[in-house]
Amino acid sequence: MIRNLFVFLFLVSFVFANNLTNPQTIYQKKCQMCHAMDYPETLEEKRAQVAPNILMVMRNISIGIEAVEEPKNKEELRKLVIEFMNDYIFEPTAQKSYCEEVIFKHFDYMPSLKGFISKQEAQIVVPWVYDTFSPKKD
Ligand code: HEC
Repeated sequence: MIRNLFVFLFLVSFVFANNLTNPQTIYQKKCQMCHAMDYPETLEEKRAQVAPNILMVMRNISIGIEAVEEPKNKEELRKLVIEFMNDYIFEPTAQKSYCEEVIFKHFDYMPSLKGFISKQEAQIVVPWVYDTFSPKKD
């Protein structure tokens, strides 16, 4: 019985091994190589960037979504931004992007992360990214 339980737990851990569950770990493994967590401090750091840092990204999309969708309150804005991100990660397009034109002079479009991040991982990391990096107004 105990042995069976061990075998069972062993198998379960295998099944879930590919899916990360800690949002910060997911961020570090699937977003941070492109989106730094802070503004660059030196010119070298600035030149090495392959994507806008996440503070800038969250600021842009929060302002953009607020202006376009006119959410009634903070909870609705949070929900809209999270929905947008869950979609954009898998299906990024220039039409959808809230980045200003100037961003694309410096950076490529974000590639689709399909196959690199699972839907479950996206659902864990996206709200965490919103709560950690979006501009606080109050
Ligand atoms: C291979 C590099 C790369 C990875 C990995 C990556 N991104 Fe991006 N991302 C970019 C680039 C480049 C842009 C800027 C151009 C654009 O908006 O498509 C961007 C833009 C974005 C935007 C802004 C979209 C908009 O409307 O302006 C969001 C949100 C975003 N990334 C979230 C994430 C999250 C969350 C992850 C991790 C799950 C992630 N990205 C992983 C390269 C990356």
